[in-house]
Amino acid sequence: MQIADLCLSNRIAMAPMTRSRAAVDGTPTAIMADYYEQRATAGLIISEGVSISPQAQGFLNVPGIFTQNHVDGWRPITERIHRAGSRIIMQLWHVGRVAHPDNSFAGLSPVGASAIAFERTVNTATGLQRVPPTRALSDNEVWSTIDDYANAAEHAIAAGCDGVEIHAANGYLPAQFLHESTNQRIDEWGGTIEKRARFIIEAAKACAQAIGKHRVGVRLSPFSEFNGATSQNEADIYRYLIPALSELDLLYLHVVTSQVSGPKSVERVDGTDLPDVVGFVRPLWSGPLIVAGEYNGPSAEEELKAGRADVIAFGRDFIANPDLPARLANGYPLAERRPSDWYGSDERGYTDYRPWKL
Ligand SMILES: Cc1cc2nc3c(=O)[nH]c(=O)nc-3n(C[C@H](O)[C@H](O)[C@H](O)COP(=O)(O)O)c2cc1C
Repeated sequence: MQIADLCLSNRIAMAPMTRSRAAVDGTPTAIMADYYEQRATAGLIISEGVSISPQAQGFLNVPGIFTQNHVDGWRPITERIHRAGSRIIMQLWHVGRVAHPDNSFAGLSPVGASAIAFERTVNTATGLQRVPPTRALSDNEVWSTIDDYANAAEHAIAAGCDGVEIHAANGYLPAQFLHESTNQRIDEWGGTIEKRARFIIEAAKACAQAIGKHRVGVRLSPFSEFNGATSQNEADIYRYLIPALSELDLLYLHVVTSQVSGPKSVERVDGTDLPDVVGFVRPLWSGPLIVAGEYNGPSAEEELKAGRADVIAFGRDFIANPDLPARLANGYPLAERRPSDWYGSDERGYTDYRPWKL
């Protein structure tokens, strides 16, 4: 599978997954290199969300990409992924209002498109804590945040990544700009669909200018209510945003279907009339399309054969099955999911899953 300059050995991607195994200052750890290398039979690896700045950080032990230490820490990871025959795209993450100062490298309070608090708790070193009020970014700060994306993209390339993915899904900062429930600005960054979509478009443009348009992908989660970023007319938003991104001729669009939009995805909402997200998105986007969300071998094959997607990303099954492509190809059984090991801690539930043995 060829997407732009990237030659992938198969159409399976490992979906971005926060695993909280970095050092507290965001420097990647040695076990992260083991973990990614074990999964490098995926045609493409999309990294866990990586903080683009101190302000972008909101969860414990998330890796960063804004210091030289971060770049040096990622280099062995990207080298080992490449040596094992895969490609690595770094997911650039700014959590916006979904943050607690205790989790921030610099003790910073959350910021967002508007001063609308995230009325929930996040996990911190001392347990679950309520998220404090959100401060709205000033116009200058919006532009400097966009610069942070571009700098992070340059750092990702310096660390040996093949490109970056802007995390604009699941209710984090870019999605907080996109949606009515989290953006009540009346300046150039809010008010209309075009203005609310501007942050994502400008961030994509800035990254494209920094590292080349064929090294920049975008992840979206249309119709998702994850982290409380929602709008009345979601379809209209994406009918504007996706063609606008399409015009930038980027590396790919990556879509998470609404059924599963993040770690909480496991909690499927019963009785909802879920739209066919992939069918909705495909005609709006002219480039390569990656889709994620509760795929298994047969449903992935069906999606590819029908031409509805170019690459299928697998999340949770890649955690317990480091050799997932071989298991799908040969019909081997899949190992059980153990959500209690997903975040934090050590190599348990991280690098101790074994490949299938006949
Ligand atoms: C432990 C865990 C961490 C995740 N972290 C991220 C993340 O950092 N960025 C992101 O875009 N999605 C994240 N997701 C969502 C996955 O990328 C994926 O969209 C979701 O798990 C659905 O795919 P699946 O059904 O194959 O697991 C995470 C999911 C899980 C289970």
